[in-house]
Amino acid sequence: MCGIVGIVSNSNISDRLFRCIKNLEYRGYDSCGLAMLTPSGIEVRKNVGSVDDVNAVEHLTEPQGSTGLAHTRWATHGGVTQINSHPHLSGDGAFAVIHNGIISNYRELKEELSASGHTFVSQTDTEVIPHVLQDEFEKEQDVERAMFKTFKRLKGTYAFAFVTTHAPRQIFCARKESPLVLGIGQNSTFLASDINSFIEYTRDIVILNDDEYAIISDDTYAIKHVQTGERINRKVQHITWSAAAAQKGGFPTFMLKEIHEQPGTVKTALNIPQEEITTLARMIHDSERTYLVGVGTTYYVSLTAHYYFAQLAGKFLPVVSSDEFEYSAEVNERTLFLCCSQSGETYDTLKALRFAKKRGAKSAAVVNVVGSSISREVDHAIMQSSGPEICVLSTKAAISQMVVLLRTALEVGRLNDTLSEEQYQTHQHELQQLPDGIQWVLNRRLSRIQEIANAHAPIKNWLFLGRGVYMAIGMEAALKMKEVTYQHAEGMAGGFMKHGTISLIDKEMFTQVFVPPASQTDLYESTMSNVEEVKARGGFVVGFHFGASDPKFNAEVIFPDVPPLIAPLLQLVGGQLFAYYSAVKLGRNIDKPRSLAKSVTVA
Ligand code: AGP
Ligand code: GLU
Repeated sequence: MCGIVGIVSNSNISDRLFRCIKNLEYRGYDSCGLAMLTPSGIEVRKNVGSVDDVNAVEHLTEPQGSTGLAHTRWATHGGVTQINSHPHLSGDGAFAVIHNGIISNYRELKEELSASGHTFVSQTDTEVIPHVLQDEFEKEQDVERAMFKTFKRLKGTYAFAFVTTHAPRQIFCARKESPLVLGIGQNSTFLASDINSFIEYTRDIVILNDDEYAIISDDTYAIKHVQTGERINRKVQHITWSAAAAQKGGFPTFMLKEIHEQPGTVKTALNIPQEEITTLARMIHDSERTYLVGVGTTYYVSLTAHYYFAQLAGKFLPVVSSDEFEYSAEVNERTLFLCCSQSGETYDTLKALRFAKKRGAKSAAVVNVVGSSISREVDHAIMQSSGPEICVLSTKAAISQMVVLLRTALEVGRLNDTLSEEQYQTHQHELQQLPDGIQWVLNRRLSRIQEIANAHAPIKNWLFLGRGVYMAIGMEAALKMKEVTYQHAEGMAGGFMKHGTISLIDKEMFTQVFVPPASQTDLYESTMSNVEEVKARGGFVVGFHFGASDPKFNAEVIFPDVPPLIAPLLQLVGGQLFAYYSAVKLGRNIDKPRSLAKSVTVA
C-alpha cells in the first residue's frame, strides 16, 4: 500500500509536494520519490528510506515546477531499492508514473514489450505502466487515448497517476480498487491516496470511484469512465475532518479503518498470482511433514489453515506455536516449515525458522512486510500485500493470511486428488464471494454487534466456543477480545468445554458461540448441544450464526447465507468488531493496548 500524490498549480509546487507526500508516509515508508515537470523534461529524484531520509540525500524540494508527482512506497514487487522506488519512467523519458496496487499481468506485459524493444530497469510491476503508455502514445499520438488504451491492457489493482512531457500542464490519474481523491484548491488541483495528504491546502474534495479516471489541471478537472470514456459529473464535497482524522481515512482508530479495509485486502490476497500458490502447494505435497507455525494471531491463522488442509486436501498438518517449536518438533530434510507473520520480524517465529533450517528443512512463509527478515530467510515467501497494519492488533493481515493458506489448501487438494476438478472450481468460486460477504457484514451487522458489545462490555469473563475451524476462529476472536479490552476471554472447542471448564459457567460468565451453517449438520448439531449445556447452567449465550432467529440465544448476530467454506471468516470479522466496540465502550487505548507491541522482537 503506497501513498501517491500529484499537484498541478499556477505557481511553484515543490514545498507543497514535499508536505503532501510527508503526510502520506504512514501508508508506506520504505522508499519515496518525486517527478517534476521542468522546462528540460521530467526530473525524477528517489531513494530508499523515509521521506526525511530521502530528502537529506536527494533534496526533494530542489526541483522547481508547477506540475509534479510524489510517491511513498510500501513494496510489493521488487525489493526495496532506489531503482524500484517510484516514479518510474517510460523508455523515452516522456512519461513518469506513480502507482499504488499490483499489476497482476506485469510479467506478460514485460515479455511482450521487451520483445518489441522496451528495456526495463526495475523489478517492479509498476514499471510496465509507463512503457505501455509510451507504446500506446506512439500509435495514438494523443495522451488521453493512449491512457484509455492502456487501461485495456492492465490487469490487477491500481491507483496510478502520471505526468508527461506531451501535456505538461496536466496530470492523468485512474483508480481501480486502490483509493484516489482529488483536492480542488485555488489555482491548484491535487490528487492523493487520501485527503490527509492535502488537507492543509484544501478541504474541497472529489472522490474517484473504481473504474474512473481523471485529468486535472490547475483550474479544472474532468472525471470519466475507464471503460466508456463517458464524462461523469460529481459534486465537490467540503470536509470538516481534522488532519488526524484524515490520516485514519475519517475512522476514529486505525483498528476500525483496517477492519474496513478487509474487503479490499482480501481481494488482493485472492489476486496473488496462482504460480506463487502452486509453488507452495507443491512444497507441501512433496514434503513428508509440513508444520504450520505462528504465534499469537498467526498461531490461530495456522490453526484455521490446519482445518482447511484437513477438509480440502485430506492432510493433517501439525500446528505448533513458534515459541514451542524447538521443544516439540521433529525436523529433517523432508520437513517443510510454513509460517505466517505480519511483521516478518517476530523473534519466536524467526528463531523457530532458523532452528528448522539448520536441520535441513525447507521453508516458506506468508508475510506482509516486504524486505523483512522472515521474507528474506525462507525458500519461498508469499507477500500478502495487505498494506501497513498500524493498529497493534492484527485484523486485515490475519484474514489475508487465512485466504492465502485456504487457496493453498485447495491447490494441494487438487494435486493429491482429494478434490475433483468440479469441487475445486466450485470452491474457487465460493472464495471469490468473500470480499462482498465481508462488506455485507460491515454494512449490515456492524450496528447490531456494537449494540451487543455496548450492553455487555463490563462482563469480565468470556468463553468463545466453536468446533473444527470455528474453534480456531473463536480462539482468534478471543485473543482480539483480550488484547483490546483487557477482559478475560478464553477460546476453546465446544467439545472440550465439557471436560472441566464447564464448571466456571454461571450467570456472570458469558459465552460467545461460533455456530456453523445448519448445512454442516454434524458440526451444527454438536455446537448447538454446547449451547444447551451452557444455558442449562444459567450462562448467557451470544450466538454468531447463519440461520433464522433462534430464541436459544440470549443475543444473536445473524450472518448471511454463504458457502460453509467462507462462513467462518465472516464470523471472524464479527469477532473483530465485537472486541473493538467492547473496548470503545470501556474507553481502552485501541490502537496501542497496554503491554503490547506491534512487532515482538524479543524472546
Ligand atoms: C496480533 O493481534 C498480536 N499483536 C500478536 O498476536 C501477533 O499476531 C504476533 O505477535 C505475531 O506477529 P507477527 O504476525 O508480526 O509475526
Ligand atoms: N506494486 C508496487 C510496488 O511494489 C506498488 C506497491 C503498493 O501499492 O503497495 O512498487
